[in-house]
Amino acid sequence: MEENMADEGQVPGSTILRLYQRWAEGGTGLLITGNVMVDGRAMTGPGGIVLEKDSDIAPFEAWAKVAKKNDTQVWMQINHPGRQVYAAMGGDVLSPSDVSLDLGKHSHLFGKPRAMTHQDIEQLIQRFVDTALKAEQAGFDGVQIHAAHGYLISQFLSPLTNKRDDEFGGSIENRMRLLITVIKAVRAQVSPRFAVAVKMNSADFQRGGFDADDAKTVILAMNGLAVDLVELSGGSYESPAMQGTTADGRTLQREAYFLDFAKEIAQVATMPIMTTGGVRRLAVAENVLAQGIDIVGMGTALAMNPALPNDWKENDQLSAHDPVVQWKNKTLSAIATMAVIKRQLQRMGAGKPPKPNASPLFSLIRDRLRVKKLTKRYQDYLAK
Ligand SMILES: Cc1cc2nc3c(=O)[nH]c(=O)nc-3n(C[C@H](O)[C@H](O)[C@H](O)COP(=O)(O)O)c2cc1C
Repeated sequence: MEENMADEGQVPGSTILRLYQRWAEGGTGLLITGNVMVDGRAMTGPGGIVLEKDSDIAPFEAWAKVAKKNDTQVWMQINHPGRQVYAAMGGDVLSPSDVSLDLGKHSHLFGKPRAMTHQDIEQLIQRFVDTALKAEQAGFDGVQIHAAHGYLISQFLSPLTNKRDDEFGGSIENRMRLLITVIKAVRAQVSPRFAVAVKMNSADFQRGGFDADDAKTVILAMNGLAVDLVELSGGSYESPAMQGTTADGRTLQREAYFLDFAKEIAQVATMPIMTTGGVRRLAVAENVLAQGIDIVGMGTALAMNPALPNDWKENDQLSAHDPVVQWKNKTLSAIATMAVIKRQLQRMGAGKPPKPNASPLFSLIRDRLRVKKLTKRYQDYLAK
């Protein structure tokens, strides 16, 4: 989960370290960080972390070290947001094509994307390699390339956002060319024992979008590329399936949202498959494994209780608090839910225990004020 807790200079600091120590002590086997940006000029949020070729490695070494306590594995998720950049933040808004985000009356909150040139694409691939190399140097055990949730690589995969007529657009073979090239380039530069994983949508859950057949084709192409793990998720800002809601009206499982899709896609996969979304109870996690999925991912549940895996050893009936806000306005409810979850991360970063039943309204107001402050700080960073 994106922590949005960077110190000044968009680097990890003591607050994020306290959070990861908490998780490492809680019994989690593998920690995958929130997305770290490969380019400081394109951020998913103003409190995000940036790791570039010339970044100072020391804060990242400290982060990896604390997360690896208790023999926990730690992989860094690496990402470029593409068109999912808030207009208020500024920076570069790139995408395969100049298709703007459609969020109805909220669309204006996002920047207008520019279609990437070949040179932009080459530079982007190099940025993923540079960030992965720095992550390895800093002591992380692997990277996870973010190709899900409507961010840049996911925009290339989806026919709704990729209208290109060159070798990066059109057929699924062309739309997945960027992802495949990034994987090959990263794998060629990092050491063989460093894990290279991918997070990908099982589907976009939008009519005419990337679908399960496309996902299978991508998996088949990745089978031969020494990819260590594929995490299956779904959706984008336009269709937030990763929060359990879809734009095309398809229903997901109430718990373990993507299990059916993951089972189907896993049939063609030779690498281990993980699925994340909606898991709060041990019985559900065990059911996911019993259905042939190799790893169960959890986000929200570990924000509500960072020691849930250890606690399950004592009490297998224990369920993590479900923070989903159900106000009349769906968009506001989704933002308020995120605010409640983010607040738990911040509390742990401040050395406090989570407060799962925190007021959604208060959390939302607090989050908006915090984002405003961080946006100002990020603009100063951009101007340097
Ligand atoms: C506060 C928050 C931040 C998130 N940031 C990321 C992220 O940086 N990268 C990512 O792949 N998914 C991110 N997600 C999505 C989660 O990884 C996960 O796919 C989703 O929350 C569903 O799983 P869950 O029900 O266990 O939380 C985030 C979710 C939340 C709640």
